[in-house]
Amino acid sequence: MKLEKFVSSIDYDVKLTKYDIFGSIAHTKMLGNCGIIPKNDSKKIINGLNSILKDFVNGKLKFTGEDIHTSIETELKKRIGNVAGKMHTARSRNDQVVLDVRLYLKDELKIIVEKIDKTIGTIKNVAQKNLSVIMPGFTHLQNAQPVLFSHWFLSYGWMLKRDKERFLDCYKRVDVMPLGAAAFAGTEFPIDRNFVAKELGFSKISENSVDTVSDRDFLIEFLFDCSIVSMHLSRLAEEIIIWSSQQFGFIKLSGQFTTGSSIMPQKKNPDFAELIRGKTGRTYGNLISLLTVMKGLPLSYNRDMQMDKEPLFDSVETIKNILDVLSEMINTVKINSEKMLSSCKNGFILATDVADYLTSKSMPFRTAHNIVGKIVNYCIKNKKSFNNLSIVEWKKFSDKFEKSVFEVLDFRKSTELRKSNGGTSLSSVKQQLKKL
Ligand code: ARG
Repeated sequence: MKLEKFVSSIDYDVKLTKYDIFGSIAHTKMLGNCGIIPKNDSKKIINGLNSILKDFVNGKLKFTGEDIHTSIETELKKRIGNVAGKMHTARSRNDQVVLDVRLYLKDELKIIVEKIDKTIGTIKNVAQKNLSVIMPGFTHLQNAQPVLFSHWFLSYGWMLKRDKERFLDCYKRVDVMPLGAAAFAGTEFPIDRNFVAKELGFSKISENSVDTVSDRDFLIEFLFDCSIVSMHLSRLAEEIIIWSSQQFGFIKLSGQFTTGSSIMPQKKNPDFAELIRGKTGRTYGNLISLLTVMKGLPLSYNRDMQMDKEPLFDSVETIKNILDVLSEMINTVKINSEKMLSSCKNGFILATDVADYLTSKSMPFRTAHNIVGKIVNYCIKNKKSFNNLSIVEWKKFSDKFEKSVFEVLDFRKSTELRKSNGGTSLSSVKQQLKKL
């Protein structure tokens, strides 16, 4: 391997081009305004930077230097001569690279938050359209209690809402202007850091120049936030995979989100959902990667920190892609409400309701739980369900059973009874939909 290639980061930090130029323009403007370099030189540099940006955007420029910062300066020198060297007054690549990453992440955070909002909107729409559909709710992936599908599905909306709040909170820590820390000790030149912050849209400046060039915790925090959102979406993807299987048949994915098999002609595999589930591995990996890079580094800047960028860029792209694909996938999914309802017939899903029935007749819940457990065993043994037990059979287990027990044996009734705040009754779900 060529030695230069080993230290180089240009292959990936080229992604920061625009931000590096924005940062240099603001810095150069400040140098001119503060009389640190002649205003005329400042103008020449800014014009040169703008022309580089234009050519880069139009695809006319390819950078080949060690990293994006040196490449842009070299290109500037080609265009305007030695005066280009004045741009780096009172600055180091150490504070410059943090600036670029912060500017980049501020933009990406806004995009990610928008995409989360959009996904929450889609989840709400699907819930709204299928508001009163009943499905079996699960614990341990076993039928547990009937629940409204909309209720189950909206839980992902709440997870995403917290994810969004985490990203917005992270934004506060990203929104700090680092330039002026220089290598790590600050600078002797009379710079105006607040001016640069204002020019670049930062709400504050960093307060300790050593910390400024050493800190990557804002990135680790972001990677952690990405890990959580991808974990949530991986769970949703997993449910989509299970629900679209022949065994469940709760949903049907639109054709664009399934792929065939190269050998089995009948297959419609949920590859997109599987990849969403699988990509969680990348976001966790990126988090662990940067945590490990940073562990035990002495202050202040160390070249190890150059390796913050690949995990960062990868998680940004991964999260944006997952959100886009998932949003569209659930927007086009078909819900099989009949299958969901008929599946409630398995597994004595109303056992809790029967126990609650006895409890409401002033039996201690524990006793009721025990009795209903016995009834379930009796049914299994005699190949019966609650519905075809006679009143005589019910009464064998407790004399508190009356004919009214048959009214309890209704899935809709069961969901409707759960009117507690955040419960699964229609009115409670309508309320949470409004709140979300
Ligand atoms: N490419 C470097 C990075 O990403 C820029 C900073 C280089 N600073 C240094 N002292 N060598 O971290």
